[in-house]
Amino acid sequence: MTRVLGRSIDPIIREQCPHILCLEDDVTSIIRLDAVEDGRPLGPRIPFVAESEGVPVAHGDLMARSWMGDETGRLVDVRWEPGHSEAARLVVEAAIAAARPGDVLNAATNAEIHPDPSERVAVFESGGFTLWQEKEGFRWADEGQDLPVPQRITARPLSEVGAGRFAAALAACSADTLDRIDRDAITAMTPSAWAQAFLDASQDSTWLLAEEAEGTAVGLVSVGEFDPGVGTITYIAVLPGQRGRGYVDELLKLANRTARELGFRAMLSDTDVLNTPMQLAFHRNGHSAQATAWHKWMHQRAV
Ligand SMILES: CC(C)(COP(=O)(O)OP(=O)(O)OC[C@H]1O[C@@H](n2cnc3c(N)ncnc32)[C@H](O)[C@@H]1OP(=O)(O)O)[C@@H](O)C(=O)NCCC(=O)NCCS
Repeated sequence: MTRVLGRSIDPIIREQCPHILCLEDDVTSIIRLDAVEDGRPLGPRIPFVAESEGVPVAHGDLMARSWMGDETGRLVDVRWEPGHSEAARLVVEAAIAAARPGDVLNAATNAEIHPDPSERVAVFESGGFTLWQEKEGFRWADEGQDLPVPQRITARPLSEVGAGRFAAALAACSADTLDRIDRDAITAMTPSAWAQAFLDASQDSTWLLAEEAEGTAVGLVSVGEFDPGVGTITYIAVLPGQRGRGYVDELLKLANRTARELGFRAMLSDTDVLNTPMQLAFHRNGHSAQATAWHKWMHQRAV
């Protein structure tokens, strides 16, 4: 049986045996394994295993990078056997202890992937993580339906617009976003550096600048691959001076048609639960929250 051990890792045990972080009466031990460099996008990771009576019951990793693949934080992941969430808590605690002071840690929970999201959220919150953002997923399916043509905009691809002008448009369009993680990253990195990093990280996406009849830019949208055969709206935004005029609907029409052109049979996209204008627009344009279990909680804590 797994027993909850003390809330802090005994420094004497750690000093004597740096790889066994927590051990009591042969009940639960948390073992820190050697760092693994396996070419994954989130960089080298430090793995942990929780053993109960010699049997692994929980696994975890402290990644080198954030969930977005940048260095603004480090992702903590944890997986456990049913009934062993206490072992998972100890793994999370060991990962926190292995981080450096000043590190920002983040953690993800997704109802589509994790069988008991509330239990997982509780594991992270008991480790001092607090909610950073909650996102709703939306699924659109190409069932051969008529896809309306946007009437008020025309679209030009990034290659035609030019990388510099596109990055400037992305920086301007993302102002005052209701997406909490984007807002934090924009503040931390500056809008122009954030926009450039976003474009660099999603070069495989089809980025389109939308202009109204006189050639004035109004917004942009980007469609990329989520899974084989399934696309995603990588980003969508309207310039602040053009908001409230329904341009988001034009952009979503463009995105739906672009997904079909690219051969995607469906799209899975998400937005902050606080981004009401975006959620309403998804619903109006055939993207359904009911059609997917995707619902994400991002947690964060500083060390
Ligand atoms: C979400 C977004 C694309 C909606 O575009 P839009 O064309 O303005 O949408 P709508 O025309 O349907 O406007 C919806 C309403 O939300 C309001 N609104 C839009 N953005 C807002 C914001 N950041 N804060 C508060 N209200 C906002 C609009 O003024 C409008 O209000 P109204 O109905 O009272 O006139 C646009 O707000 C935007 O680009 N936001 C920043 C980027 C972003 O969040 N993208 C989504 C990431 S998933």
